[in-house]
Amino acid sequence: MSENINAGNPRRRDGKKVVLSGIRATGNLHLGNYFGALSKFVRMQDDYDCRYFVADLHALTTHPDPKMLHENVKDILAEYLAAGLDPEKNTIYVQSDVPEISEMYLLMNMHVGIGELMRTASFKDKARKALGISTGPSNGQEGSVENEADDEGIEKQIIGNQTNQRVNAGLLTYPTLMAVDILIHHADFVPVGKDQEQHLELTRRFARRFNSFYKTPYFGEPVNFNFGGHAVKVPGLDGSGKMGKSEGNCIYLIDDEKTLRKKVMRAVTDEGPKEPNSPVSEPINNLFTLMELVSTPDTLEHFRNAYADCSIRYGDLKKQLAEDILKITLPIRERILDIRNNDEYLSRVVRQGAERAREAASQTLREVREIMGIRKF
Ligand code: TRP
Repeated sequence: MSENINAGNPRRRDGKKVVLSGIRATGNLHLGNYFGALSKFVRMQDDYDCRYFVADLHALTTHPDPKMLHENVKDILAEYLAAGLDPEKNTIYVQSDVPEISEMYLLMNMHVGIGELMRTASFKDKARKALGISTGPSNGQEGSVENEADDEGIEKQIIGNQTNQRVNAGLLTYPTLMAVDILIHHADFVPVGKDQEQHLELTRRFARRFNSFYKTPYFGEPVNFNFGGHAVKVPGLDGSGKMGKSEGNCIYLIDDEKTLRKKVMRAVTDEGPKEPNSPVSEPINNLFTLMELVSTPDTLEHFRNAYADCSIRYGDLKKQLAEDILKITLPIRERILDIRNNDEYLSRVVRQGAERAREAASQTLREVREIMGIRKF
């Protein structure tokens, strides 16, 4: 194979570039998932050959719960569809329905170093959590911890650990699995939030390594996708950091009106500006950032001006913010409730999705086996 197959990627439908992304099945989707990923998925569905999946195997690295797993998969699926993903236009599937991914994950692991995996920020973060090691003052943000002294501690604890707390190997090889999710489709674009950039960088590295080891330009290099600019970071309601499931500072798409209003009204604020044109503190800036995402420019300007001239009342700001969030989430919530109960529809969607995904995946796997020298008698 001397030519880059990806150049005329036969897996693309209608000559469109391939988009691939997924979300782990570990709980309901929140506004961070919505603005960081899901809303981009929806915007891309007309112009690209999009494949969106529910990462249930990835969920097992941290949430191995046989009672909840299937429910969690159904939640994400219903949320995908409720947010506007069209199962006819897109390939929507469940990761474990495509066994080719698991096989290629085994093969790809032969080209991945345990050192580079151990240095991955999300691994160090999750390993610390698994071992119950506190991450100090910079706690909370995935991938934010970069402390050499700490790192040495963590490597020793992982290897020498005698307790029943352990860091499972699935967590270590998480980036391999994610790379395979992407490469098995020869994806061109991978719309993900900022926290996934490092995983995407590893994906490109593994692709290059595979190509150079087998001396064939087989895989292309997928890139993130942002509409006109940088990745959005959606802040939480607790005054600092991003919105995240484990931070307990989330607004969920499934939140009912009362719950949502209550959460917004309880958001952390400060004492208020004492003099005109005061600098904006982080908690207030976070509320403005949320407003930027959900409110009209006029509304945002109104409250920014009110802050600048000290007439702002945070209660009013929050009321308006809650109102504008609800305009987006309530219609989605209604659809989630509808779809979530329609087992027949959900199973039709994933059956069709798996079929399409497997078509691409089995071709890639066949070629990868061939390149690696695994041949049939
Ligand atoms: N790691 C991603 C997350 O935690 C989920 C994911 C798994 C993913 N495989 C992927 C995202 C492939 C994009 C492409 O959000």
